Amino acid sequence: SQYSVVVPAAGIGKRMKTDCPKQYLHIAGKTIIEHTLTNLLEHSQVQRVILVLNPNDTLFAQLPIASHPRIEVVEGGQERCDSVLAGLNYLSDNEEWVLVHDAARPCFAATDLSTLLQLAEQGSIGGILATPVRDTMKRAFDVNVNRQNIVKHTESREHLWHALTPQFFKLAALKKALNTAAEQKINITDEASAIELLGEKVLLVEGSASNIKITQPEDLLLAEFYLTQNKL
Ligand code: CTP
Ligand code: MG
Repeated sequence: SQYSVVVPAAGIGKRMKTDCPKQYLHIAGKTIIEHTLTNLLEHSQVQRVILVLNPNDTLFAQLPIASHPRIEVVEGGQERCDSVLAGLNYLSDNEEWVLVHDAARPCFAATDLSTLLQLAEQGSIGGILATPVRDTMKRAFDVNVNRQNIVKHTESREHLWHALTPQFFKLAALKKALNTAAEQKINITDEASAIELLGEKVLLVEGSASNIKITQPEDLLLAEFYLTQNKL
């Protein structure tokens, strides 16, 4: 089967500290957003991309990929979840499943996406790519209490995972979940959290750790390495 992918790309990339939003920075000859879109559209199970842009975005229209026949653009919102919801609302209710993938994650592996689709479709409400936590995890006291970061305790990293994208869910369930979270003013940072709030099971599909979200300046070199190695 083929699916629509909602790609939230309406953020301003505050933590990257560059003038233009991070998705428009160049890596290996192309902008990050072009890498992400190209990699998605090359996958045989991706039918089209619903690209969610900031209402003030003037940069996307200047890229050659802007005229791609399988990319449709909608306006995003204040938070990532608002942008994703805008993308979902654009889709027809006839679509059973939907993918969501961050514009800031150009380094995902096509094989990971295939695995996610294959495993999550089997009788569940959906699933996400994730990687097991490798470092020892410390819970700190509120920094305002001690004026420095002090360890409260060590969290067991057993059963702890990093949530990545793509995330893949039944469209109707995901819309309901995100609307419910919005009504309750619960700040969620991925689609799975909204589904979890409904008490539904989210499948974790182990993906490659090279699927980093480009967030801070040091991520750029790493992403360039992964993209030019051509081994995603
Ligand atoms: N995003 C979005 N709409 C928002 C905020 C974020 O579509 N209101 C998108 C970003 O463009 C990015 C993805 O969601 O592709 C993941 O968010 P994040 O990495 O946090 O990007 P930014 O919000 O742009 O970065 P920052 O939090 O550092 O400002
Ligand atoms: Mg953000």
